Amino acid sequence: MNSAKNKIVFSGVQPSGDLHIGNYLGAIKNFITMQHEYDCLFCVVDLHAITVKQDPAELKNNTYEVVATYIASGIDPEKSIIFNQSNVSCHAELAWILNCVCRIGWLNRMTQFKEKAGHDKENASSGLFSYPTLMAADILLYKATHVPVGNDQKQHLELTRDIAQKFNNDFKAKDFFPLPEPFIDKDISRIMSLRNGLEKMSKSDESDYSRISLMDDGETIRKKIKKAKTADVLMPETEKEVNNLPEVNNLLNIFSGVTKKSKIELINAYSGKNFSGFKENLSEALVELISPINSEISKLMDDRNYLDSIIKKGSEKANERALKTLAEIYDIIGFIKR
Ligand code: TYM
Repeated sequence: MNSAKNKIVFSGVQPSGDLHIGNYLGAIKNFITMQHEYDCLFCVVDLHAITVKQDPAELKNNTYEVVATYIASGIDPEKSIIFNQSNVSCHAELAWILNCVCRIGWLNRMTQFKEKAGHDKENASSGLFSYPTLMAADILLYKATHVPVGNDQKQHLELTRDIAQKFNNDFKAKDFFPLPEPFIDKDISRIMSLRNGLEKMSKSDESDYSRISLMDDGETIRKKIKKAKTADVLMPETEKEVNNLPEVNNLLNIFSGVTKKSKIELINAYSGKNFSGFKENLSEALVELISPINSEISKLMDDRNYLDSIIKKGSEKANERALKTLAEIYDIIGFIKR
């Protein structure tokens, strides 16, 4: 085994609705490149999804859809382990243990809980509050060393490192859990809404025009990009000027993310022009990327037996590895297992 294969990659996506270009650029694109070098596990985190209310039939369908999206985007299930979290019960078991390691003060600092719980914190599920300890369990169960995620998950990764360190110290289990490194691509780790360049693109935004979904057809993509907010100026000449125009900056980040062109190359190509040609070309680049993924997802969604076989095989492999780590953890903690 070469040394890169000793690096273990874990990441997850919630089955909470159609995935968007932010999920793709911020996370999935990196999964695809990492699978060739590392030992990878890609999970559909259904236990995380139920921290807010879910319709059971939709949850099931969305879970299949994330599996289909992983495969349609280019993750090879022969190379990487693809599975859903609830199928490997060790995730929930380790989450409980880590809840006892993690401090309430640490969870109180999590900005995503504050955003998601909104004004009615008292009414949020306690699962939503302790969500990051389940995420730490996902990662540490496989002793993952690298975690490709978007920028919004950075704080959860830092918490995971704190939990790992506290566990190692408290139980005098030096280096038992490696401290996982986030893998975050600078420019595309926070894709913003197409309607407001200061807000993150999100599945839960009420406006469908705020995001490009991986399920959008060509016409919808063109319509959304045409309506996307820009600025009342021509395309500037420098990156510094672009940085003051959040919506333009965001479209450039997306354009650069879906093509191999750097941001500065794109700025040079469109500077001094209005945004219509830029938007047309961006739409075409998006359609070129998304159309084949989109039609492959639809094809896979019609083949539930195949998706079931991937989930079954992936879950068995993940379970075998998870059980091994959990047995070590139980022993370290002092649980009797006969
Ligand atoms: P989730 O399902 O919200 O998002 C999946 C991935 O997409 C990234 N992402 C974005 N990246 C760039 N721009 C955006 N606008 C954008 N929106 C979302 C997210 O950062 C994420 O990488 N808690 C996680 C799932 C999870 C997980 C894990 C991740 C559970 N356990 C263990 C890594 C390791 C979440 O809710 O992602």
